[in-house]
Amino acid sequence: MAKPKYTYRRLTKVLIGTLVVVFSILIAGGFLIFKNEAPRPAKIVATNGETLVTHNELLSGQAVYEKYGLADYGTYLGNGSYLGPDYTAQSLHIYLQGMNSYYAQKLYQQSFKSLSDFKQGAIKDKVKHEIKVNRYSKANQTLTLTAAQAAGYHHLTKYYRHEFINNPRQAGLPENMINTKKTDAFMYKGNKVDQLTSFFFWGAWMSSTNRPGQTYSYTNNWPYDLDAGNTMSSESLIWTAISVALLVAGVGVIIYYQRRYAFDMEATYASAEQMPALDTDFAITSSQRKIAKYFLVVVGLFLVQILLGELMAHYYVENEFFGIPLQNIWPFNLAKAWHLQLVIFWVATTWLATGIYIVPRVLRREPKRQGLLVDLLFWALIVVVVGSMLGEWASTLGLLNHNWWLFGQFGWEYIELGKFWQILFIIGMVLWVVILMRGFIPAMKRPDNYDRKRLITLLFCGAIAIPAFYLASLFILPNSHVTFADYWRWWIVHLWVEGIFESFAVILIGYLMVDLKLTTTRSTVRALYFQLTLLLGSGVVGMGHHYFWEGDHSIWLALGACFSALEVVPLCLLLWEAYTHYRVFKDSNVAFPYKGTFVFLMWTGVWNAIGAGALGFIINAPAINYFEHGTQWTSAHAHGSMAGVYGMFSIAIMLYALRNISQQKIWTPKMDKLVNWSAWLMNIGLAGMVFISLLPVGYLQLKDALEHGYWHARLLSFYHSSPVFELLWARIIPDLVFTAGVIILIIIVVKVIRNLKPADNEKAAAHFAAVTAEEVKADQLSED
Ligand code: HEM
Ligand code: HEM
Ligand SMILES: [Fe+2]
Repeated sequence: MAKPKYTYRRLTKVLIGTLVVVFSILIAGGFLIFKNEAPRPAKIVATNGETLVTHNELLSGQAVYEKYGLADYGTYLGNGSYLGPDYTAQSLHIYLQGMNSYYAQKLYQQSFKSLSDFKQGAIKDKVKHEIKVNRYSKANQTLTLTAAQAAGYHHLTKYYRHEFINNPRQAGLPENMINTKKTDAFMYKGNKVDQLTSFFFWGAWMSSTNRPGQTYSYTNNWPYDLDAGNTMSSESLIWTAISVALLVAGVGVIIYYQRRYAFDMEATYASAEQMPALDTDFAITSSQRKIAKYFLVVVGLFLVQILLGELMAHYYVENEFFGIPLQNIWPFNLAKAWHLQLVIFWVATTWLATGIYIVPRVLRREPKRQGLLVDLLFWALIVVVVGSMLGEWASTLGLLNHNWWLFGQFGWEYIELGKFWQILFIIGMVLWVVILMRGFIPAMKRPDNYDRKRLITLLFCGAIAIPAFYLASLFILPNSHVTFADYWRWWIVHLWVEGIFESFAVILIGYLMVDLKLTTTRSTVRALYFQLTLLLGSGVVGMGHHYFWEGDHSIWLALGACFSALEVVPLCLLLWEAYTHYRVFKDSNVAFPYKGTFVFLMWTGVWNAIGAGALGFIINAPAINYFEHGTQWTSAHAHGSMAGVYGMFSIAIMLYALRNISQQKIWTPKMDKLVNWSAWLMNIGLAGMVFISLLPVGYLQLKDALEHGYWHARLLSFYHSSPVFELLWARIIPDLVFTAGVIILIIIVVKVIRNLKPADNEKAAAHFAAVTAEEVKADQLSED
């Protein structure tokens, strides 16, 4: 085949150049983080020389926090879950109270409360200044506390003994979840609740003590607490303004490039009448048929995931479940761990299955013994899902102890699964890449149409990136420094959802559009280059919005604010694509087989703009995020984006694959109606959850944080105050509407799976040959 006049060389150069620049910034910024992380003292001592905390005890406290999944109950440095307190802000507050009492007794022999406002003010002022002074000695790695600080520490110890021992008032937790005596892996002998407290205390210390030579704390003054003298830094405000200006400029520049170089996917049909007729009555191969069981698992996991969401939502309004003490066997932290693991599992499984489905299509035949690998991957996944979930359960309830970090709760949000399961999950994903390679590599080598080959290459690169970035989880160990662990943790959470997933999703959509003959190959590939450059160019360094307050270098305030503001631009461009998908849905006649896919793709585009773009932007600027971090606005954004973008997208591609592997006869107008109902119920439910409940609650929470300090807005008493309490109850309606949508989806999937096409590799090969001939003809026409 002659070399085409047109090449993608320039676009490739721009994309690769962009990737090199953004990853260099990310890695250089990472070095600054590690160089500047808050020290973990060899010991914390009082001025009289008494050792209060040893290094081992501090690390042991972190292990206790991890083993019992407390990041799935409350937050540390604002990361984790929001029913429990923010343990950093709360500790800071209680520590200050202890110091206040100390001075009230010492100076006036009275309790702090009984002092006049004037005397209270004077003490608070003294305390505020005292805690800012950095008394860590690098030379002997010792942190020395003043007498008042030591009193504050002891006060904190008492407080948490009260909280974690014989306390039935913790919503959604068993009364004595933490075994105070048991010493497991990464732990050290001694009272485990006290060790946990030392870990909390260290967080309070680093968030209130000035960095050496600076006038702000290790956490850039987070959390907001006037009593601690913690107020927003000037940099936060300045970079907020700059980020907004950059967004405006970015919109202008990108619209210019988009229009100037026409980076749109061009439709192959100009009017509804010309829309290509698509026949789905073709034969399928045996590996393609085997993906049906993946989808059965997908919808099962999806249902369990949202039921757990509802259980958690209930713990917000009642300590138990309608009077049943369910928290003893399914505590909130376990439900949360499962809720997150399940979403990763079911979304990933949909992608794995769809990838497997595409392989014979790109290869144009069934690779040898592909079915065997597909079954192997399936069972490996089942083992990881069931094993890791049981492990998390056993670890939290104290049934699995010594090897908790390998098989149980690993302790970090989104990577709750034990190290052993993480590795198995990676092996599973590598196996998936092997399954893909068997089709993609020969297809990429084929003397074939240039544009189509490029599309396949892009799809393959996107697929490899998925396991590649999960490898970051391997850097984290239970005793890793929090700042270090979080740096890598966001490589998975943020880089996956705002970079790699997003890229894979847009490429896969592009592939489907071409495969369904809806857009031309060349315009699609060009549009993909443009979208990928924008998404990755902004999204990779955009990761900085998670590094604002985690003990990182303040340069991340600038980088995070600006780059992630720019992320909004490509997401909004996707709204145009949503319209394209809507048009396909609307123009399609009765015979169009992929109506369901397009209705869900349209919603994906809508949530990209609203859930990810708008709701991401609202919490993104440092000046807002400083007060907002870890509140219900984050949850609103998390649901608008994870459920809205990836939930809807996964369903779209699942329906595409299911439509192809099932018999024509079941796709009656009634079935189309069911798909429509499912889409509407889920999207109305999701919008209700976000806009009726989470956003208003988050608004009140933000106001509360501004009025009383961040710690206050995270108390259970805040959630139980009116009208927050009523708003939290009200979510039950949209939650149930969403559930109804999921149940309809399950009915559809079960129906499909009972009516699969028989596998016939030879007939399928004949079909692929016919398609190829058609494609060659079309490509020649477009090249002429
Ligand atoms: C009826 C459906 C659902 C309900 C009732 C629900 C409820 C909840 C609740 C109560 C939390 C815990 C918030 C906290 O930390 O305190 C949560 C967290 C979360 N859910 Fe859902 N959820 C539902 C569906 C989904 C779906 C479909 C997805 C994704 C596809 C999802 C993704 C998440 C994520 C990512 C978080 C973590 C948010 C964060 O930490 O900021 N949820 N959900
Ligand atoms: C499809 C794209 C996106 C997805 C799936 C997504 C998902 C999420 C999730 C699940 C969280 C919660 C993390 C946690 O549990 O702490 C989160 C947090 C956050 N997201 Fe996004 N996001 C997306 C795009 C964006 C964009 C475009 C922006 C900015 C313009 C943004 C800004 C933020 C910020 C600032 C936080 C931290 C909130 C906090 O401090 O508590 N996100 N995102
Ligand atoms: Fe992010």
